[in-house]
Amino acid sequence: MTPAPLLGIDLGTTNSVVSILENNTPLTIPVDGEKLLPSAVCLTDEGFIVGKTARNMALLEPERTVLSVKRKMGQNIQLKMGERSMRPEEVSSLILQKLKTAALDYLQLPHNTAVRTVITVPAYFTEEQRGATKQAAEMAGLRTERIINEPTAAALSYGMSQMNEATYAVYDFGGGTFDVSVIESNDGLVEVLATTGNNHLGGDDLDNLLANYLWEKFLAANTLSNIKPGRKEMARLNRIAEQAKIKLSDATEVNIQESFFFKLNNINYHLEYTLSRQEFENLTREKIRETIEHLQKAVEEAKLKMDQLDGILLVGGSSRIPLVSKLISENTGIEPTLVNSPDEAVSHGATVQGAIIDDLDIETILVDITPHSLGVSALDEISLREKFFNAMAEDKKENKKKKNEEPPNLKAAMIIPKNTPIPASRTKLFHNVVPYQKEYNIDIYQGEGKRFAENRCIGEIVLKVPKPNEEATVEVTFTLDLNGLLKVTATETTTKQMVNATFKSSRGIKVFKAKSNQPAILPSEVTQNTLLKRAQDLLENEKIESEDAEDLNKLISQLKKALNNSDKTEIENIEAELLDLLYYLEEN
Ligand SMILES: Nc1ncnc2c1ncn2[C@@H]1O[C@H](COP(=O)(O)OP(=O)(O)OP(=O)(O)O)[C@@H](O)[C@H]1O
Ligand SMILES: [Mg+2]
Repeated sequence: MTPAPLLGIDLGTTNSVVSILENNTPLTIPVDGEKLLPSAVCLTDEGFIVGKTARNMALLEPERTVLSVKRKMGQNIQLKMGERSMRPEEVSSLILQKLKTAALDYLQLPHNTAVRTVITVPAYFTEEQRGATKQAAEMAGLRTERIINEPTAAALSYGMSQMNEATYAVYDFGGGTFDVSVIESNDGLVEVLATTGNNHLGGDDLDNLLANYLWEKFLAANTLSNIKPGRKEMARLNRIAEQAKIKLSDATEVNIQESFFFKLNNINYHLEYTLSRQEFENLTREKIRETIEHLQKAVEEAKLKMDQLDGILLVGGSSRIPLVSKLISENTGIEPTLVNSPDEAVSHGATVQGAIIDDLDIETILVDITPHSLGVSALDEISLREKFFNAMAEDKKENKKKKNEEPPNLKAAMIIPKNTPIPASRTKLFHNVVPYQKEYNIDIYQGEGKRFAENRCIGEIVLKVPKPNEEATVEVTFTLDLNGLLKVTATETTTKQMVNATFKSSRGIKVFKAKSNQPAILPSEVTQNTLLKRAQDLLENEKIESEDAEDLNKLISQLKKALNNSDKTEIENIEAELLDLLYYLEEN
């Protein structure tokens, strides 16, 4: 029996990419005719739309659209989309569902075919963020063969597995995250030596800085002050900022002109500004400098000197910013290399990892590492015993409250240190604090702080011992699987009685049931009609000037014609024009 198809998926903050192995080479599968699918989801009256049209809809209906959902992954929150509220993993699963459908169409397989995936996550992603990604895949009906780190995937796609005695730093600066990994390859053994980064540093942050800057310039030019941009203006400003930023990677200056940008007291204001690369660099230098510090730290953690690297590989859209290469070469003495197809490299690497799993590439062994230290809370001074004893005597709720009030008493007892190769299993022994202790609350943390409170608490297990002894030992075992996902068990050893402990569902690591009524997403033909419908509604229901109505009618018939002719470029051009007009008319 042939195994289910295996997709390499890069679920990105800004763009997502899906690829398969064809003739032993990774191949990107087009989605809506493009290699990159914008990671945008919008709820329309007809249902969910995912991709470019959804990203455009963020301008018209920001409250019904979710962009950059990856930045919210792992958080216990609901995202509002119109009348619906969804968890971040549910929104991500819609993006994955769209990728899966495109792949099945490409492979000419029915939509209910079982599909496997190797899915990538930022190397610096936490336990909760990895878990949420896996859940999103499950909800989209994908079986996760492996979760791998994005820089590692990029290194595989660069062909590192075929290299001998090669060491590279992979610098991945994307839309929402920044990661750097130091990777070594020797005779088909690819080993990650160190990894670091920031899960909230990417192109989105640069866009925000620039959007706020442009707003200030706009206010100053029009002698306005103390006005905050609304959600719609902010969405439009972010789009303008991103476009300007991308242009500044090639040009030294960009002319920004947005007609009918803002209306106040019946006066229309336009946004006009000439932005220089120098200004953009001044605004963003600090953020980019932070990435260089991470790069230096990763090389240090790998116990290497910069000149021992064979190169620095640049991946991710934001690494195209000229200041990135400039600061890297100034600070490291190495001229970095932008990998081929930097936007597809991560997804291709996931496909290569799929081939390794399926034994199609039996030469390579990949050893990745855990990006964060993991451990449990523990008391560190005998003098605290009495305090703890008193707390134990009180009711459980009270006990908890006390513990929360006094976190400095707890130290961080590390079990698996950062940069440990995975899979890994480590055990540490702990002793009872009070004689005949019946219950142990074990808080699990992730991070590098010495005190428990300085770290991120990702879960808690409660170990109950019904017939305790005066003296007792608790064995805590942490097991990290190949996906970097953690399992914890605690056993009380003195009674020789095995006690199983499981995570509580209320905290970071949780039991999460996939919903069977997964919402449907609409195919792209339907989504293109959304704009048409809005334009028609506007014509029928609103009082608009005859000149505007004429423009609208013209664009509607042009778009219909382009759709009939399946003329992609024409569709996009008219769509953009129609969007601007709708934005203006609906606002006024
Ligand atoms: N030429 C360019 N110059 C500057 N920035 C660019 C350029 N091209 C793309 N970008 C930016 O790169 C980012 C998208 O990059 P990419 O597709 O690698 O991110 P992602 O994979 O979606 O995000 P992440 O890896 O953080 O989850 C966006 O912020 C985009 O504006
Ligand atoms: Mg990326």
